[in-house]
Amino acid sequence: MATQSEYVIETTDLVKIYKTGKVKAVDGLNLKIKKSEIYALIGANGSGKTTALNMISGALFPTSGSIKVLGNDIPEKRRLISNHIGMAPQDYSIYQDLSLEENVRFFSQLYGMTKAEFSPRYDELLKILRLKEKRKALVKNLSGGMKRRASIACALIHSPRIVFFDEATVGVDPVLRTFFWEYFRSLKDEGITLVITSHVMDEAERADRIGLMRAGKLIAEGTPEELKKEHNASTIEEIFIELSEGEIIDE
Ligand SMILES: Nc1ncnc2c1ncn2[C@@H]1O[C@H](COP(=O)(O)OP(=O)(O)OP(=O)(O)O)[C@@H](O)[C@H]1O
Ligand SMILES: [Mg+2]
Repeated sequence: MATQSEYVIETTDLVKIYKTGKVKAVDGLNLKIKKSEIYALIGANGSGKTTALNMISGALFPTSGSIKVLGNDIPEKRRLISNHIGMAPQDYSIYQDLSLEENVRFFSQLYGMTKAEFSPRYDELLKILRLKEKRKALVKNLSGGMKRRASIACALIHSPRIVFFDEATVGVDPVLRTFFWEYFRSLKDEGITLVITSHVMDEAERADRIGLMRAGKLIAEGTPEELKKEHNASTIEEIFIELSEGEIIDE
């Protein structure tokens, strides 16, 4: 693996134009994210958050620009760092007709984990995510919040150093959301870097830093306190509404 800079994630002038799309879904994105930061990418529907995350995690080819994750060029060197990256996509990536355990085991095998490595980590995650009772349940029979936790278990089974949660807490009740954040903080304390996207603004306020996207561009960035001061706002929601105005497009 390449030597590391101060940043675990760096993008330079990142652009994505989908083949079928007319516009730049991501339009010159420059991000620098440090180790053990919790970085929240926020923005209106269609502002490019998922597209950005998918390029950074190596799932989607950029049209132009460059990406470095843990000092490695993405997507070229993605293979070298796949064991260090975890991804919980916006759309459930887990198999509905398999049980929770079969799903998590499947992901562990993708990462080349042995049975001996799998079992203790799986037990630990299920305990933390309060899913122990559901290990044999088919995913399709889980509630929305449980499915969310199940996809988090799949994303974390191999103990990655960087985790991407795309709309991690959509459909999650406030109690569970608080629990998720406690868990995110504990991951941070272990030195793990988290990049999340969110529409829940009080949630964005809990991140270390926020990047606000509009039409594929980063239009504001800083700690929640910095942003509120800069925009003379008392909440991030106010800033979101002010800066995202006109962005709600009819697709
Ligand atoms: N596979 C695709 N093919 C063509 N266009 C796409 C594709 N995926 C996304 N887009 C377009 O790219 C733009 C950015 O979409 P993206 O999903 O990245 O936004 P987002 O910020 O994640 O939105 P949301 O908050 O709704 O999840 C939108 O205009 C969308 O229609
Ligand atoms: Mg999205």
